[in-house]
Amino acid sequence: MGTQLEQARIPMRALPDGTKIPCMGLGTFGSDKYGAQAVSEAVYGAIRYGYRLIDCASVYQNEAQIGQVFRRLFEEGAVTREELFVTSKVWNDKHGEGQVIESCRKSLADLGLSQIDLYFVHWPFPNYHAPGCDGNSRNPDSKPFSVEGFMTAWRQCEQLVKMGLVRYIGMSNMTVPKLEAVLPLCEIKPAALEMELHPSFQQQALFDYAVVHDILPIGYCPLGSPSRPERDRTAEDVADMELPAVQAAARAHGIHPALVCLKWAVQRGQVPIPFSVKEAQYMSNLACVTQDPLTDAEMEAIRLEDKNCRLVKGQVFLWKGAKGWEDLWDVDGVIPQ
Ligand SMILES: NC(=O)c1ccc[n+]([C@@H]2O[C@H](COP(=O)([O-])OP(=O)(O)OC[C@H]3O[C@@H](n4cnc5c(N)ncnc54)[C@H](OP(=O)(O)O)[C@@H]3O)[C@@H](O)[C@H]2O)c1
Repeated sequence: MGTQLEQARIPMRALPDGTKIPCMGLGTFGSDKYGAQAVSEAVYGAIRYGYRLIDCASVYQNEAQIGQVFRRLFEEGAVTREELFVTSKVWNDKHGEGQVIESCRKSLADLGLSQIDLYFVHWPFPNYHAPGCDGNSRNPDSKPFSVEGFMTAWRQCEQLVKMGLVRYIGMSNMTVPKLEAVLPLCEIKPAALEMELHPSFQQQALFDYAVVHDILPIGYCPLGSPSRPERDRTAEDVADMELPAVQAAARAHGIHPALVCLKWAVQRGQVPIPFSVKEAQYMSNLACVTQDPLTDAEMEAIRLEDKNCRLVKGQVFLWKGAKGWEDLWDVDGVIPQ
């Protein structure tokens, strides 16, 4: 493939210290559908095309293959390490004393890097479920959120920054009550918050909270994750690309509804990280943010499509005694114990 997007055309976003990162990244979770080989080949093609932000995680089980791709790209001179912004995340079974650092070292070795740019606590619970498990599976050892447990993991993230093994640290799948509980305790504040964000699930309160606290929102499932695992599907789920305002904008601009979701995300101010292993898709996803923005009226019409439709409910992380998946998200404004 010879096509390449000119870097100067890709809008940038600022982390709290002013460091610039691209307004869009590439997701690498194969959703139990695409294997490590397919995902890493997409990372290769996407970086060659112009992606510079790659969203990884140990639980995606493909960091070693992505690491090989990074090495190949560095050897080929297609990109330098400094030009890439690589994230990774510690999985829920590695929150204990010493384990976050151990897990980060494993991700570093797999990715073939000496430093990760942004390292997330993937979920604020130490609750493990096996990759690929079904939606009814529960772990009897699961526990509700605890400030103490979370801070054990966070202190190690802070340590990773001090050790120079990561540049920035972030939180993922948080809520306003949990942030209120832990932010005052942080010695190093999160630079970014990774959260589910798409037209039918805009999380306006959490989004605003992040912005006010100078934390960059990174939006996962920006297209409504049409290939998500079975465990994350319910009959009530809304398909973002079929929302009337999304479809109307797609017709008006002569583009796929997926690209409307991405333009909306970037213009709203979050950093979407769409996933695709298909060259035509990942190329058009990045290209669309460099041209033909949505109008204010289209942005407003999409804002009004919010349906509070959470797709990644996380029910596999529930603990004994929890009422339902809503307990993971503090829907009553308090953290259930
Ligand atoms: N922090 C967290 O807890 C968390 C949770 C979930 C996800 N994430 C991250 O967020 C990333 C993105 O989320 P996601 O993969 O679940 O959902 P997504 O990006 O909303 O959806 C990806 C799917 O959309 C389709 N697609 C992509 N580009 C398209 C286009 N131009 N036209 C039409 N369809 C298109 C593809 O479907 P087909 O496969 O059918 O082609 C692709 O598999 C993940 O890969 C991961 O890195 C993080």
